[in-house]
Order: sequence, then C-alpha cells, then structure tokens
Amino acid sequence: MEEEKKTTKLSGKKPVPRSPKVKVHVGKKEEEKPEVKEVKQEEKKTRTKKAENSGEKKEVLVSMKHVQIGFKRGTKVRVVIDDLNLDIYKGEIFGLVGESGSGKTTIGRAIIRIVPTISGTILYNGIKINGKISHRLDRQLKTKIQMIYQDPTASLNERANVDYIISEGLRAFHMYKNEADRLKKVTDMIIRVGLRPEHLSRFPHEFSGGQRQRIGIARSIIMNPEMIIADEPISALDVSIRAQILNLIEEFRDERNMTVLFIAHDLSVVKYISDRIGVIYHGQIVEVASSDRLFEHPLHPYTQSLLTAIPIPDPHIEKNKKIRVYTGTDYENQTELVEVEEGHLVRGTKEEIENYRKILAKSKK
Ligand SMILES: Nc1ncnc2c1ncn2[C@@H]1O[C@H](COP(=O)(O)OP(=O)(O)OP(=O)(O)O)[C@@H](O)[C@H]1O
Ligand SMILES: [Mg+2]
Repeated sequence: MEEEKKTTKLSGKKPVPRSPKVKVHVGKKEEEKPEVKEVKQEEKKTRTKKAENSGEKKEVLVSMKHVQIGFKRGTKVRVVIDDLNLDIYKGEIFGLVGESGSGKTTIGRAIIRIVPTISGTILYNGIKINGKISHRLDRQLKTKIQMIYQDPTASLNERANVDYIISEGLRAFHMYKNEADRLKKVTDMIIRVGLRPEHLSRFPHEFSGGQRQRIGIARSIIMNPEMIIADEPISALDVSIRAQILNLIEEFRDERNMTVLFIAHDLSVVKYISDRIGVIYHGQIVEVASSDRLFEHPLHPYTQSLLTAIPIPDPHIEKNKKIRVYTGTDYENQTELVEVEEGHLVRGTKEEIENYRKILAKSKK
C-alpha cells in the first residue's frame, strides 16, 4: 500500500505555466544560427523574471542530503564526494560545473543508481532512491531519468541501426501498443530532433558527431522522461554545432517541463542554458546561484577562477587579462555551504562567509 502511494506521487508530473515560447527551427543542416541564440537568451530572462515576480514556489525534484560516495581501491575506500547537499528543482536546467575529476559524472551516476552511495540520502520527488529500493521503483526510475552522454560515438551501438537504437528503451519497458505505434513514435522523434525517417535504417557510423548526438537525444526523449542528465553533451562536438544541440535540449525542456542536470566543465556553456548553476571543486559544492547572479557576483575564489578562464571576444582585453588559478585551501573540513543571499549559497569558513556577506551588502549600496 505504502509503495502504491509512493509510486503515484513519483509519477506526478505537474505542468508549470510558461511564457510563450519562441519557436526555434532545428534545421537538417549542421550550421549555427547565432540570431536564434540571442532571441532565446532574451526570452529566458523574461521567463526567469516572471517566475521571480509570481512568487512561484519551486518544487524540488532531486534532493541530495549529506551524500558521500567513494570507490574501493584495494582494501581502502577513496571518498570522491563528501557531504553533498544539493536540490534540483522541477523543470529547471541545473548546470553543474567543475574541473576534470571533481565528481560531476559520479553525482549523475549516483542519481541513476549506477554508482552506490556510502551514506546520506538521495530523494526523488520526496522518495529515497539510493541504497536498497524495490524492483518496481527501480524500473520506474529507469524510464523517468534518462542520460545523454558526452561521446555520441561511444554511446551508440555501432552494430544496430538507428531505428533499433531509438526503440531500445520502448521495447525494454513495453511502451508502445503495437508495431505501427512503435514505428510512429520513432519516426516522429527522428523528425523532431532534425533528422529524417530514411535515417532510421542507417547505422551510427554513417552520421556526423552532431547527428549522432541528435540520435542520442532522441533515444532519451522518446522515453518521455521527467529528468535528463546530460553529461557534457556538447564537449565532443564542433563549436559550430554546439548551439544547435543546446537549443534542442532547451526546447525539449520547455515543451515537456523536464528537469535537466547539465554537466560541463566550461562556465560559458552552462551560462547560456542553465537557470541555476552549481560549482563543484574536489567533490564539494563551493557555490550555487541563479545563472545571472553567479556571473554578476561570483564569490568563491574557485568560481572566480573559472570565470576568468572564459575567453573575452576582444583581443586587447583578452591579451591583458590575468587568469586566476585556484589552488584550493587546506581547511576544507571546517567550511560550510551557507546561503549568503536568497538562493545564493557559498562555501567558506565563518570569517569568509562574513566577508562574502559584506561584499554583497556593499554591492547593493
Ligand atoms: N568507477 C570508478 N572507480 C574508481 N574511481 C572512480 C570511478 N569513477 C570515478 N572515479 C574517480 O572519482 C573522481 C571523480 O570522477 P568523475 O568521473 O565523477 O569526475 P568528473 O568531474 O566527471 O570529471 P570529467 O570532467 O573528467 O568527466 C575521479 O578522481 C575519478 O578518478
Ligand atoms: Mg565526467
């Protein structure tokens, strides 16, 4: 009975009203459309403002509390994520940024239960999903949370045709009525991601990197997930194609009110797509804020160093720019992640937190 109740709640997908969407055509050609990007940026600002003004209470979809994750090395366990506290809201795109090895993929994998946690809890719609869970809940999660991977070449089965690849999840979870229904779903989806029905009989090696990533996206979205974990989905792609893939992910989020955990190590990428951003350093979240706020008032020195690493499109400024390098501190254990202004959390010692508050107060004068 208890399980019944829980599963009903788990599937509760409440549509959130959104501002009118600017229709972005995802063409079949692999070329960038910068003007589209600008329009969408503007639209996003309006949407964020609307949400702020309406006082809409944000619902949490994934909540991680005191999560610790480690890997066995011989007889010892090496902890790579320690005391992780993070909430991801329904319908948002949450950008998770940090250098290589900081633990971003591990967090994504813990949510989809590939990596076990040592301690702490991960809640999905208020239900604990880490550790031992029922077979039924496990199966539900496998459809509700989908991954999009970094390398579209490695993540697609080279021996299967596109029809088979996109249908795999539908088949595994019996998500179609009959063969005609399955084919319709797959055909609609391939068109939706900007490819053509005749592509269904082809094999992954016959496509470009961008097209393969479209197939990867189709394979995930066809499951109608509530959440997408996109692990560096554009890092392996040509710069000219990246905006299109970002637009596609954002369109699906807008259309279906999906929640997206978008992993990247480049702040400039997540700025464009994310509503909020979390910065991770050595397995610990050091700062969380709305995308705008993080860029206006980065407080943690590591966030600041990531910001200085973003190229500035002015050769004079870029040439004279000083890139800050954050080398970390050795008092990591005495630091805490504290909310220094609404929705803006930063990690620091008591003194540092005081100082961050002063900086913010000064900036408001
Ligand atoms: N299966 C595993 N076994 C042992 N150690 C692992 C495993 N997976 C990850 N690690 C270690 O955990 C740490 C975090 O790895 P993770 O892949 O989460 O980093 P990341 O932030 O995604 O890095 P990248 O940007 O390079 O993808 C690294 O030190 C890595 O070596
Ligand atoms: Mg990774």
